[in-house]
Amino acid sequence: MTEIIIVKSQEEAGEIYARCTADLIRRKPDCVLGLATGSSPLAAYKALADLVHKEGIDVSQVRGFALDEYAGLDPAHPQSYRSTIDRTVVEPLGLDPAKVRVPNGNLDTIKDAGRVYDQAIEDAGGVDLQILGIGTDGHIGFNEPGSSLASGTRIKTLTEQTRIDNARFFDNDMDQVPTHCITQGIGTILKARQLVLLAFGAGKAEAVAESVEGGISSFCPASALQMHPHATVIVDEAAASRLRNRDYYKWAYANKPDWQSI
Ligand code: F6R
Repeated sequence: MTEIIIVKSQEEAGEIYARCTADLIRRKPDCVLGLATGSSPLAAYKALADLVHKEGIDVSQVRGFALDEYAGLDPAHPQSYRSTIDRTVVEPLGLDPAKVRVPNGNLDTIKDAGRVYDQAIEDAGGVDLQILGIGTDGHIGFNEPGSSLASGTRIKTLTEQTRIDNARFFDNDMDQVPTHCITQGIGTILKARQLVLLAFGAGKAEAVAESVEGGISSFCPASALQMHPHATVIVDEAAASRLRNRDYYKWAYANKPDWQSI
């Protein structure tokens, strides 16, 4: 079963992610991190950067693959996911930018970019730890409802809801919000060895409940996590508010024995 951890704050969630990732980097210095953009992982990236600097962890060999990129947006645009990953992950952690890839949204080559990206992930030995956010419609990466659960990296059309949700990054001007993207597929995401999904706020409560306690369906892409052998969902009280079994999840985490590893 997916492990559900209910935390008091984004900072507490960030510390759990940071501790888990730091342990991974120590065990495997050239590990491959799967990276998400958006607001959900920001506290986690900050906690990891703080830990890396405080404990002097060597990140020079760490590699990374982002989940997605807007189609046709200049990588130099401040809201491109290339820029966002550089600003929120590569620079604060001190990663080697050449070792961190983002899907190529250049329209001239985008037709092949998905296949090339999946091959690059495979050549790197696969993703060790993938961090995920979730859309209010249940999307992971930019796999909108209806996405094949077996999909590889490919071009997708963004839903109106996702474009409205992301308009805040584009001066709330819908005309500036791209309509298409290139995203790791659900099948690509499921190949990562460990998944950690973060969700905060009441706006995510319904999507979280449907993903964790609903049926597995392409109409709720995050429900695919139920098929993953090592997935953890970390939510605050507001995002957990629609979970039927939340008392059980809280008890299980509070009483987790040392010998029950995640
Ligand atoms: C971003 C991504 C998306 C976001 C999701 C939630 O790379 O893949 O799935 O994680 O849209 O976004 P936030 O965290 O901004 O609520």
